[in-house]
Amino acid sequence: MHILVTGGMGFIGSNFIRYHLKHYPQDEVINLDLLSYAANQLSLADITQLNYHFYQGSINDLTLVQEIVQQHQISLIINFAGESDVDRSLTKSDVFVQTNVAGVNNLINVALKENIPRFIQISTDEVYGSLPALEFAAEDAPLNPSSPYSATKASAELLLLAAKKSYQLGINIIRSANNYGPRQYQEKLIPKAIIAFLKGNEIPLFGKGLETRDWLYVNDNIRAIETVIHSGKIGEIYNVGTQKELSNFAVLQAIAKNLSGDSSLIRFTRQRPGHDQRYGVQTAKIKELGWQPEVDFGLGIKKTVTWYQTNRSWWDDKNYR
Ligand SMILES: NC(=O)c1ccc[n+]([C@@H]2O[C@H](COP(=O)([O-])OP(=O)(O)OC[C@H]3O[C@@H](n4cnc5c(N)ncnc54)[C@H](O)[C@@H]3O)[C@@H](O)[C@H]2O)c1
Repeated sequence: MHILVTGGMGFIGSNFIRYHLKHYPQDEVINLDLLSYAANQLSLADITQLNYHFYQGSINDLTLVQEIVQQHQISLIINFAGESDVDRSLTKSDVFVQTNVAGVNNLINVALKENIPRFIQISTDEVYGSLPALEFAAEDAPLNPSSPYSATKASAELLLLAAKKSYQLGINIIRSANNYGPRQYQEKLIPKAIIAFLKGNEIPLFGKGLETRDWLYVNDNIRAIETVIHSGKIGEIYNVGTQKELSNFAVLQAIAKNLSGDSSLIRFTRQRPGHDQRYGVQTAKIKELGWQPEVDFGLGIKKTVTWYQTNRSWWDDKNYR
């Protein structure tokens, strides 16, 4: 298989590439990444296999994407490329529309023109919006995004579903819960808190930290993507999550405990505009394909904390990209 991975220098994409090259050494993996502020080339610096190629560039660059697809006879696109930070989207929505919507539209156009049989879009549980306690959205629940970020992810999904209906593009959409684990840029809650505890800095937390999230260890998400590649039904949407949840405050307490950190460093700040109280996804559909999460939060956060402790140069490097 010849796979175009877009956004492969980011958090989930780089973990996917590492896993895929290890388990499927016969596949060719092409990584196209713009190297935005969130990318870190150290994530894949040790990958020297000849079946891995990196191109710096944008999914919005039609000519470049088309050249890559033709040169490498791409048969599968997995799109991880995106602007992924909710807080940034609240003040810089333009770049979210450009990358998350126009960029995906561009990839769809190339996929159709070059007859690429499969396109897997990495989406998010945030497209369902905030849900009441104990409610879990199934894949056919309405889209109800709250932030510019989740609105652009939902828009991209609609473009893909339209391409499926109009041109029979072989799509899958994976809506995953909040990922955490090694190689996540430090603007996100878990790496931000680990690094702040390690440095003895204050850790800002919105409101009272009572919002809850379903925390999915990144390798569990990678195995879900692997499952969809091999057993997913073309055209289908799959939710991925643990169906367990923790408040943001409880997450910070768990990190503090693992680091013998000082919980008094947590500082409550003003609430985020439109802050969703809770997400929840039903995962029966992907479980029918044989997937289930393997790493519970206690173990996952321990592994994550240890990784940041032992890979300081990854996050402390002045030349981050
Ligand atoms: N992190 C999560 O918890 C989570 C959960 C569900 C879904 N997602 C989705 O998964 C995808 C990956 O998330 P992540 O956390 O790895 O994000 P990330 O911010 O760590 O990485 C995104 C990558 O995309 C690249 N990129 C940005 N614009 C690009 C462009 N125009 N062309 C090519 N590359 C571009 C960046 O350089 C970066 O390497 C995103 O689309 C996000 O919406 C993330």
